[in-house]
Formats: sequence, structure tokens, C-alpha cells
Amino acid sequence: MIKPFLEALSGHIQTPPPVWFMRQAGRYLPEYRDVRTRAGGFLELCYSPQLASEVTLQPIRRFGFDAAILFADILIVPHALGQRVWFTEGEGPKLEPIRDRAGLTQLAISRLGPAVAPILETVTRARQQLPARCALIGFAGAPWTVATYVVEGGSSRSFETLRRLTYQDPSFVDGLFEILIEASVEYLSAQIGAGAEAIQLFDTWAGALPAADLERWCITPTRRIVEQLRRRHPGVPIIGFPRGIGPSLVCYVERTGVAAVSIDSGMPIEWVAREIQPLATVQGNLDPILLQVGGPRMIDEVRRIVDVLGRGPFVFNLGHGILPTTPPEHVAQVLETLRM
Ligand code: CP3
Repeated sequence: MIKPFLEALSGHIQTPPPVWFMRQAGRYLPEYRDVRTRAGGFLELCYSPQLASEVTLQPIRRFGFDAAILFADILIVPHALGQRVWFTEGEGPKLEPIRDRAGLTQLAISRLGPAVAPILETVTRARQQLPARCALIGFAGAPWTVATYVVEGGSSRSFETLRRLTYQDPSFVDGLFEILIEASVEYLSAQIGAGAEAIQLFDTWAGALPAADLERWCITPTRRIVEQLRRRHPGVPIIGFPRGIGPSLVCYVERTGVAAVSIDSGMPIEWVAREIQPLATVQGNLDPILLQVGGPRMIDEVRRIVDVLGRGPFVFNLGHGILPTTPPEHVAQVLETLRM
């Protein structure tokens, strides 16, 4: 069975373009909120293979997306390595921050395998229940983005602590990155072993880096993960999502070797078609706010994106995750428009 999403990632133009949405499983779906309540907490949900595979499949059943993404979180890696991580309703993630070399001893690679075993079981269960033309995406956070949470102790506006430490204590940041790179390769490799058919690396906060530091803290760590995964699993495509890096995207694609790149809504798509699409499959980039608003503006924008990016290898997606206040009918309308 041909999977249009995997065909597009291999560089083959698909008409209509395959589509999935970042955060397609989540609070905007009433059936998600039900399961979330049953699970008790967010981490409990992530570590329950039965409930997490159910939630992975919910948006596939409701909308018929071309790909499902494993239901988990980028903060599973620091949690599985031994950092204290907790989620309080409506407040986002909290972590006991690690800010020096001594703190790094809390993170033990040896804990990772046993800790993520339930998540690998989620991958296997979800894969078994997927419709034949739908592919399963595994994921992890890129080291820079995960490090912002590890060091800041939660979501942040300026990433001041981590950014300061890259100048004042680069050997600590290097030490943290070594652990995150090794853990990401092991974790993603295990996801592929369990049934993931493509990988996405979320570098949500790459745009906070000065352009001169992008190579060191975003591009090189990503390239190291891509190279090691490619050696172990040559056929499995990797999608990068270096959000907010603007024209540095050309460098990112050339130097990391990703098969595809996910584009945020700030990128001009004509520029992307010209400069990026000859190098890699492009994924994106409908504004999540426009999805929430809906109406003719949304439909026109969907058509414009397909007009410009649909002539090359392309996967339709959002520029960032779905907002919890999004009416599910708007998602259905986008898919209808694409498949008309
Ligand atoms: O459907 C999917 O996309 C799969 C599951 C998924 C989640 N998080 C579930 C989740 C994925 C791929 C992520 C990635 C993730 N997690 C990122 C990178 C992508 C992005 O959106 O920028 C980041 C930065 C995180 C860290 C994180 N997790 C934050 C900042 C928050 C709180 C904000 C929020 O949206 O609630 C989370 C919690 C989280 N992760 C939820 C979900 C469904 C909501 C938790 C809940 O149900 O209360």
C-alpha cells in the first residue's frame, strides 16, 4: 500500500498533498479531554500505551489525516533520564532546573530504555491499528529546545538563563547536549524499531538563537542526530522543524541533511518554493490562528499555500501546533478543501 505522506517525504509530488497537523491530538478534541480525564494526569496519559495509542488515533478516525503522530511529549526525554518534570492543568510544564555540571549527574542514560518502554508499546499499538494509507510519525525535541526547558525549569519568554550559560559556561551546555544527543538517538531509534515510519525533530525555540550561534546549538546537534539515525535506519525520513530561523533555513537544510523541513507561518512561501523546495520536501505552513478563526479567509489561504507549494514535494501542515480553542469543524473544512 502506497502512503502519500511517505511518498512526499521521498521527494515525489502528490496531488492532493498529504496532510497532518502538529498537535492534531489534544485539548481541542472532546474525545481527547475525556481520555485525559480518565488518565488522571498528562504524564500518566503519555505513559499509558492503551490510552496514548487511543489518543494518537482519534484525529485519524475523525478527520482521516495522512499521518498520525505518536502521542507523547518532548519532555519525556529529560523525565526518563531522571529530571523531575510535572504538568499542572493550564500552567504548562514545570521542571526542577539543572544549571551546572553537578546537576548533570541527575541525568542517567541507563534509565532511558526502561523508562520509555511504555511509549514504545504505544508506537507498536498505534501502528497496528492505523489505516493502510496512513503513516506513523515518531518524534523528539531537538537538543536546543529540550535544553531550554531543562535549564529554565519550564516555558520561558527570553531563555535568558540558557542563553547566558552558552556564553559563560559553554562546557556545561556542551555536557548537557552530549547527553541529549545520545538520548535522542537511542529513543528515536527505538521508536523506529517499534514501528515509527518517519521522525520529526521539534526545534520550537531555534529562533531565539542569534544567527551566529545557530550552527553550534541547532544545526550541528541536529546533524549529529540525523547522521546517527540515518546510519542505523537508512530508509526512514527525518523532518526538521527549526521554528523562527528565517533565511538561515537554507543552511539548516544543507548542513543537517533532513529529508524535509517544517515551515513556520512567518516564512514567505514564494521564497520557500524557490530556495528550499529544490533541496528538501517542505511541510507547512497555515497560521494556527487562521485555523481557529475559520471562514473564507482560511479557505483562500489553504488554496494559496497549495498553489505555491503544491508544485514541488509538499506536505500540508500548520506553521505551529493547533490551539486548544480551535473548532474541530475548521480542521474538517481544511481537509475537504485540500481533497476537493
Ligand atoms: O498531537 C501531537 O502533536 C502529538 C503529541 C505532542 C504533544 N506535545 C502533546 C501535548 C507533541 C508532538 C508535543 C511536542 C511538544 N511539547 C513541543 C514541540 C512542539 C510545539 O508545540 O512547539 C513542545 C515545546 C512541548 C512542551 C509542552 N508540552 C508544552 C509547552 C506544553 C504546555 C502547553 C500546552 O499546549 O498545553 C505541553 C503539554 C502538552 N503536550 C499537551 C499536549 C496534548 C497538553 C497537555 C494537557 O492535556 O493538559
